[in-house]
Amino acid sequence: MNDKKQPRRDFIKKSAIAGAGFMALPAGTLFGKNKPSDRLNIALLGAHGRARAHYETLKDENVVAICDVNQLNMDLCAKEFPKAKQYQDWRKCLDHPGLDAVLCCTTDFTHAFIANWALHRDLHVYMEKPLAITVEEARMVRETYLKKKDKLATQVGMQRHAYENFNRLREMIHDGGIGELKEAYAWGNRQLRRPGYLPASGKPPSTLNYDLWLGPSPEHPYNPGYFIGRPGANCLEWNMYWDFGVGQMGDMGSHTMDLLWNVIDAEQPTSVKATSPEAFNPEVTPVELTSSWRFPANDWRDEIRVSWYQGGAMPQSPSSWIDLNKIGHGAMFKGEKGFIIADFRRRLLIPSGKEADLTYFNIRSKDELLPELGHFQKQWTNACKNGKPAATACNFEYSANMIEALCLGLCSFRAGESLNYDGRKGRFTNNASANQYLSKQYRKGWSFVG
Ligand SMILES: NC(=O)c1ccc[n+]([C@@H]2O[C@H](COP(=O)([O-])OP(=O)(O)OC[C@H]3O[C@@H](n4cnc5c(N)ncnc54)[C@H](O)[C@@H]3O)[C@@H](O)[C@H]2O)c1
Repeated sequence: MNDKKQPRRDFIKKSAIAGAGFMALPAGTLFGKNKPSDRLNIALLGAHGRARAHYETLKDENVVAICDVNQLNMDLCAKEFPKAKQYQDWRKCLDHPGLDAVLCCTTDFTHAFIANWALHRDLHVYMEKPLAITVEEARMVRETYLKKKDKLATQVGMQRHAYENFNRLREMIHDGGIGELKEAYAWGNRQLRRPGYLPASGKPPSTLNYDLWLGPSPEHPYNPGYFIGRPGANCLEWNMYWDFGVGQMGDMGSHTMDLLWNVIDAEQPTSVKATSPEAFNPEVTPVELTSSWRFPANDWRDEIRVSWYQGGAMPQSPSSWIDLNKIGHGAMFKGEKGFIIADFRRRLLIPSGKEADLTYFNIRSKDELLPELGHFQKQWTNACKNGKPAATACNFEYSANMIEALCLGLCSFRAGESLNYDGRKGRFTNNASANQYLSKQYRKGWSFVG
């Protein structure tokens, strides 16, 4: 609890300073149109589907290049940005002259590559979630980013982070609403069951460059089934296969774990243990999974255990009165003196135990509340311009730490045992052979560095 380890006033002061970074914007940029000279020259990679959610923000900037492996999707995007030069290959698009920034909505298995290549070119990057699909990818992007964080603004598309509930949860727990924090849990109930990679079926249409779609992924035959989803949800057709994604950990896990990641101030865990009723399938990521990590103590809390449950696995409810299954994607915090249960927008504080009289809860006044984040995508475009590039809420340090932990859960699942982790070296210390799961094989000719 903060009053023991960090005086609450100090915490509020620190939070307000951090928050001030989010709010210090150049005049005329917040929600408004920019002067032409203030506009970023942006490349949009992965031009349709999820990208549609970014078109409005992008219209306040100069979209000078768009990139898609599917000409039909490129054509739809070109209607919005008719002046943008068109590319099929993101490696060429990143060398478009005069670029300031890229916003990327391609497949998950290209994210770490594109992030790293863009950072190497000194481009600001907004990357859709998940930032990476292996521990090695997460660490590599973070390392590149940390060398450039004073000049490049980054953000991962965990846009629910802008909901005010995120700040309220952080305040309630840091201000002692449940006493000393002991455990945190998050869960998601989405279940996408697939037997294995789709079999070869037909030829790719002339409008799709399937070879570039595969990009760094090991070879898998074309099947139209990877492309049948509605725009913005097509990721559900490929993200559960090991070579294309990390299943629900990278999908809803990126959003739902963020509810607690924003509270706990953690970096790398010291151990991880994942279990599933399902046997390891070398083609498909597990549907039902429970993964728990131990994170070391920091300056305001003790060591804690954090757990993620997916595909039907659920944490135990604190009371028979409460059915956690009613919350499809949620989080729970357990303290010495109570619980907080939350979804993305709402929270319930439940004092618990004999001493749960709330006298220990240092409720802050309205003017001490953490400042609103504002518009999530604009937080990034503003950070590209305002001289405070690292002030984005989901920058590549914050987000790489979180996806690294999630991917470690999958390593433990594959190893079939609890693993101790040296976060400084990025290696398991009790099972050398489990280190093979930290990284994966790519197709010849594709490199992280370019
Ligand atoms: N933040 C969110 O809430 C949210 C919601 C949905 C999807 N997403 C993320 O957005 C990304 C895209 O999801 P989607 O459902 O739109 O997927 P999608 O399969 O529809 O792909 C999006 C677009 O990228 C193009 N594309 C694919 N590979 C490419 C490549 N190598 N180079 C250039 N273009 C390429 C596709 O043709 C398509 O136009 C995923 O990473 C997903 O996790 C995030």
